[in-house]
Amino acid sequence: MAVTSPILNVMIKAAEKAARSLIRDFGEVEQLQVSQKGPGDFVSAADKRAEELIFEELKKGQPTYGFLMEESGEHAGSNPDFRWIVDPLDGTTNFLHGIPHWCISIALEARGELTHGLIYDPVKDEMFTAEKNGGAFIRRNKRLRVSGRQDMMRATIATGAPRRATGDQERFLREYTAVLNVSPGLRRFGAAALDLAYVAAGRYEAFWERKLQPWDVAAGILIVKEAGGFIAELDDHKANPLETGNILASNEGIFSDIKKVLKSTA
Ligand code: IPD
Ligand code: CA
Ligand code: CA
Repeated sequence: MAVTSPILNVMIKAAEKAARSLIRDFGEVEQLQVSQKGPGDFVSAADKRAEELIFEELKKGQPTYGFLMEESGEHAGSNPDFRWIVDPLDGTTNFLHGIPHWCISIALEARGELTHGLIYDPVKDEMFTAEKNGGAFIRRNKRLRVSGRQDMMRATIATGAPRRATGDQERFLREYTAVLNVSPGLRRFGAAALDLAYVAAGRYEAFWERKLQPWDVAAGILIVKEAGGFIAELDDHKANPLETGNILASNEGIFSDIKKVLKSTA
């Protein structure tokens, strides 16, 4: 088994604690599904509970670090060099509908650089982790490598659709059609952090989505890179997808092809 650093151990402990709470709540969702009101409020409480547990554990481990968390926003730390970036529940719509495809995502940024990433899918008990220059792993002991496939026709590619109110749906539909024309294996699973982890694990050759938030992609960006994959900003090669939220993650084999196909729809 690979040796785990103290920082990663803190992250694992926090994720496991939140996972126990989320798994308990996920069990309740099925019952609430059949009620007239549905599980909406219950799930947003579950989400907040998980975030609080993660906050407490990370704070206990590193009392001086700051936070950027989906539910509660920014918390400045006394040490401005370090910041946790946390999505306590990615794939909320899946969770809400009793679909077992959601995860916890935790990343650490040190002086503006991602140094540690963890994505945990507790239903499948799959934990994806990476440390900068230390490689990426699944279940802490098996090294992750992106896929070696080079042929778009035989690739599996995932994406996420924009919400009507916030996204450019026409642009998305042009991109979707263009990719579908050259690569029939398109998927839309509904948990962006897991999509990135799956690129790292060689399950899909690529993933793209626009207007994501830092907590959706921070851990995944590092995990993909450490698994030998490529990350790009969809429109501006100089921009940082952690900041713009427009991200392409891919193996080396189809990276330039899919980039070209997506660009052709601008
Ligand atoms: C969402 C998921 C989804 C993506 C959305 C995200 P949430 O995060 O990652 O796959 O398409 O853009 O907002 O709300 O489930 O944490
Ligand atoms: Ca999310
Ligand atoms: Ca979330």
